[in-house]
Amino acid sequence: MRLERPVIAGNWKMHHGPSRTREFFRDFLAASPAVPGRTVAFFPPAASLGAAVRATAARPDILLGVQNIHWEPDGAFTGEISAPIAADAGARLALVGHSERRHVFGETSDETARKVAAAVEEGLTPVLCVGETLAERDAGSAAEVVEEQLQAVFGAIDGGRLEDLLIAYEPVWAIGTGKTASPQDAAEMHGRIRGYLRARAGDARAEATPILYGGSVKPENAAELLAADDVDGLLVGGASLEPGSFARICAVAG
Ligand code: PGA
Repeated sequence: MRLERPVIAGNWKMHHGPSRTREFFRDFLAASPAVPGRTVAFFPPAASLGAAVRATAARPDILLGVQNIHWEPDGAFTGEISAPIAADAGARLALVGHSERRHVFGETSDETARKVAAAVEEGLTPVLCVGETLAERDAGSAAEVVEEQLQAVFGAIDGGRLEDLLIAYEPVWAIGTGKTASPQDAAEMHGRIRGYLRARAGDARAEATPILYGGSVKPENAAELLAADDVDGLLVGGASLEPGSFARICAVAG
């Protein structure tokens, strides 16, 4: 899927059931008209996806996704959602390897790679999340950690199958903490990710892969982060929950 950039995505995490989702979109759609030259996406909880699909039916500029998938297409996996089920329910995108999946639920890089493969197989666009913890940054190994997370996916999946991929750099220490990476920190890591993609998949593919920044993005810091080199969009958690604040972030993008 060819996405207009910048890409501004809201990850609602475990917030907003179907009723709140309907209210959110009533207010958000009024505050944020469709604007060419940018992409807006939401990752509601899976149980609210149907409400989000219906609420945004008249707004094809808005894409929807799920926050996690299982790597098998179906089977005895109580509580899980597969890529085919997510796609059937209206998802076009899938977050994969979000730091809360990795650090709270113990998702391994190998599992992340299998989920990326499952999404690609189904035609869902994966948004691969990578990022280092504070201890890893303090130890000077942030770049190495991010490269290993990328390598786990690119080493396991044939590059040709990864044409339709987004990457989100989300330093774990900046998620939900109010601490944002500086635009310089973001530009540096995004440049490294772009460099990895260039070496691994070639210049054209590297340029075509949107790299989003996430971690305490707010209306107040969205413009400077978006202006940083190699930052092609934003993945917003807390500040995407309120229609007005997310509309302000989207307005920064055009
Ligand atoms: P935050 O979350 O904006 O609340 O820091 C971002 C994310 O986890 O995607």
